[in-house]
Amino acid sequence: INAEVLASDQRYAAIAATEFNSVTAENAMKWESVEPAQGEYDWGQADELVEFAMKNDQAVRGHTQVWHSQMPTWLTAGIKDGDFSRAEVRAIMKNHVVQVTKHFKGKIRQWDVVNEAFNDSGTERHSLWREYLGKDYIANVFRWAHEADPEAKLFYNDFGIEGINPKSDAVYDLLKKLRAGEVPVEGVGLQAHLGTQHPFPDGYEENLKRFADLGLEISLTEVDVRIELPLTSAKVATQTSHYKAILKGCLAVPACNYITLWGFDDRNSWMPGWFDGEGSATPFDAKY
Ligand code: XIL
Repeated sequence: INAEVLASDQRYAAIAATEFNSVTAENAMKWESVEPAQGEYDWGQADELVEFAMKNDQAVRGHTQVWHSQMPTWLTAGIKDGDFSRAEVRAIMKNHVVQVTKHFKGKIRQWDVVNEAFNDSGTERHSLWREYLGKDYIANVFRWAHEADPEAKLFYNDFGIEGINPKSDAVYDLLKKLRAGEVPVEGVGLQAHLGTQHPFPDGYEENLKRFADLGLEISLTEVDVRIELPLTSAKVATQTSHYKAILKGCLAVPACNYITLWGFDDRNSWMPGWFDGEGSATPFDAKY
């Protein structure tokens, strides 16, 4: 859910209120949104979304705490300028995870805690997190979040890990290791940003099953299927088939029990802003 649109467009709000039993903030819970200046929290939009969800009997999925993107400038610029010591950065990051988790304690039952920590090749992404929190940062982040809200289900979330490939292998290995070490991670989020120019991810159902066999819950967290414009009936048919396959595979594996669309309409979707010349990725068109 886009918080600005929710506040200003009644038709959008009406669909959001009635067509879904769970909502997720597109941006409102990200670090740059909740702590725009160091130590000054702005929960406004995020709290409005939580209130909206409660009013409509909806769950709220939390997104996201630890990501290399959409961090506040005071932090990224501060680090670049050498304003913070290593220990300070670590304390700032821990504080962030604890504050955010605590703020929504009891209101958010599922959290995409760590987002996009791997490269497509399966190597670790060299983010600030990796650099300043050290090799065990993912395990530590889950421990901090769990301590802050022991009831919340904590997820590792990434894109391009729907099928079997080097990246999903790496995520699988990590989660297996974390589970074996009793790190409190309970689920894996597959973003599922698909495109009709690409074949449907290879080995999707098998992949879901191997994560399920680790005892993990599986969520599809950011589903959309973009099309290289202009539309043709062949491309729309491929889109239908991708949507169908992503849903069918999830329904076939009991551990896969949560589906979130990354925007429900083509008027407000992050397409085409992020993928030049692509769009029409969601179930509702630009006229809702
Ligand atoms: C995107 C939002 O949709 C945009 O509005 C924002 O400008 C950038 O981020 N993976 C994620 C999401 O986990 O948080 C991203 O959301 C899309 C990719």
